[in-house]
Amino acid sequence: MTAIAALAGLGTALPSRRVTNEELSRTLDTDDQWIRSRTGIAQRFWSAGVATSDLAVEAGRNALRSAGSDAVDMVIVATTTPDHACPATAPDVASRLGLGTVPAFDVAAVCSGFVYGLACAAAHIAADLAARVLVIGAETYSTILDPGDRSTSVIFGDGAGAAVLRAAGPGAPGGFLGFDLGSDGSLKDLIIIPDGGSRQRTSKGDPAGSYFTMQGKPVFRHAVDRMTESAEALLEKAGWTAGTVDWFVGHQANARILRAVADGLGVKSDRVIIDMDRVGNTSAASIPLALARAVTDGNLVPGDRVLLSAFGGGVTWGSSALVWPDVPAL
Ligand code: ACO
Repeated sequence: MTAIAALAGLGTALPSRRVTNEELSRTLDTDDQWIRSRTGIAQRFWSAGVATSDLAVEAGRNALRSAGSDAVDMVIVATTTPDHACPATAPDVASRLGLGTVPAFDVAAVCSGFVYGLACAAAHIAADLAARVLVIGAETYSTILDPGDRSTSVIFGDGAGAAVLRAAGPGAPGGFLGFDLGSDGSLKDLIIIPDGGSRQRTSKGDPAGSYFTMQGKPVFRHAVDRMTESAEALLEKAGWTAGTVDWFVGHQANARILRAVADGLGVKSDRVIIDMDRVGNTSAASIPLALARAVTDGNLVPGDRVLLSAFGGGVTWGSSALVWPDVPAL
C-alpha cells in the first residue's frame, strides 16, 4: 500500500524587530492608510543580523517539538533568500538541528515554495524514500528589498514556518489529499532579482539589479487567476465542494487577492485566514505562519477541512488540502 504524507508538527519563528507602517512612512512616500487598504498589511518583522537559516532552525526546532520527536530522515528548506547562492541552506539547518547526515536540499519556488516543499516531501514518502520529513519555509526579504522602493518595501516581511510530515495510511488525520502544482516561466520577469545569477553575476557598481523587483498589477491578476484554478483542481481531487471548506489558507500576499480567490471559488469571506496584517508577505513562510496563527487564535481546530493555495515568482503556483489533525502550533 502506498503511504500518504500526514502533518505531524507545526512550528514558527519571527524576528524580534517589529516594523510598523508608520515607521516606513517616515522614510518612504507612503502612509498607513494606503498600505492597509491596498494590501491588508499593518506591520511586519525584519531581522537585523539574522540569516534565513537562523529563523529556519528556530522554526524547525519548534516543529520537531510539536511533533514530539526529532527523528526525521529528510530536510527541505523552501526559500528565496538562502544564506548563500552556494551551498543550499537546508544541509546547514539539518546539521544545526542535530539531524545528522540526512538528505537536505532547498526548493526555489518563491512564494509557492512551501506548497512545493510539501509536495516534494509527500512524493518522497509515497516512494518510500523517507518516512518523516521536515519542511521549512524561511525568508529574510529585508535583505533583498530596495529600501527606497515603496512598492516592495511595505509588503514583505521576514519569518519562518515549518511542518513535520510523517508516513501514514489513507484517511489518517492530517493526511494531504493531493497536490496541484504549476508554473509559467514566460512571466519570469514579473518577479525578479536581475543580478547575482549566471546571467548577470555582478551589479557593475549599481546595486539596483541586486534588489527584488515586482510588477504588482500583472502579478495581482495572475495570482487571482492561477490560485483560483489551482484551488478548484484541488477541491476536485479532494472530492470537496467550496461550501464544505472550513478554512482557506492562501499565500498571504494581499488581502484583496485572497478575497477575490475566495469569491471565485465560492468560499465565504469569513472562512479566509488573514495573517498579513501581522507579518506582511513572508513568501515561502507565509502559509505555515498563517496556519499557526489560525491554530493559536483557536480558529483552526482538529477535523476542520483546510484548503491551501499559493502563487509566487517564476511564476509558480500550488495547492493542497488536508483535514486538520490534533497538532499544536509552537
Ligand atoms: N504607498 C503609496 N502609494 C503607492 C505605494 C505605497 N507603498 N506603492 C505604490 N503606490 C502608488 C503607485 O505609485 C501608483 O501611483 P500612480 O497611480 O500615481 O502611478 C498607485 O499607488 C497604484 O499603484 P499600483 O502598483 O497599481 O497599486 P496596486 O493597487 O496594484 O497595489 C500591490 C500594489 C499591493 C503591490 C498589488 O499590486 C499587489 O498586491 N500585487 C500582487 C503581489 C503578489 O501577489 N505577490 C505574490 C507573489 S510575491 C512573490 O512571489 C515574492
